[in-house]
Amino acid sequence: MDENTIICRCSDVTLKEIRDLIAQGYVTYDEIKRITRIGMGPCQGKTCGQLVLREISNATGKSMADLNFHNIRPPVVGVKLHLIAEEAKRQEGEKA
Ligand code: FES
Repeated sequence: MDENTIICRCSDVTLKEIRDLIAQGYVTYDEIKRITRIGMGPCQGKTCGQLVLREISNATGKSMADLNFHNIRPPVVGVKLHLIAEEAKRQEGEKA
């Protein structure tokens, strides 16, 4: 694969950047995530996560199953306060 290949489309991180970090000794997903912001885009690493783990696995000889992957969380969105107030009133109504 060409080293200019974009691995993380959300954060515009190339395969070369990932390989350079691994060569410098950053061999965990979290370390690479903190430096490059992979896995922190809108897809939350669904696209790039397995590719990065594969690179770490190839470089370290560890199986992908033995490598820790981050927890995938849903994107955070704002909630309008009136919706929270309405839900609280609804729950109070159910208790009464
Ligand atoms: S492709 Fe990496 S976070 Fe979306």
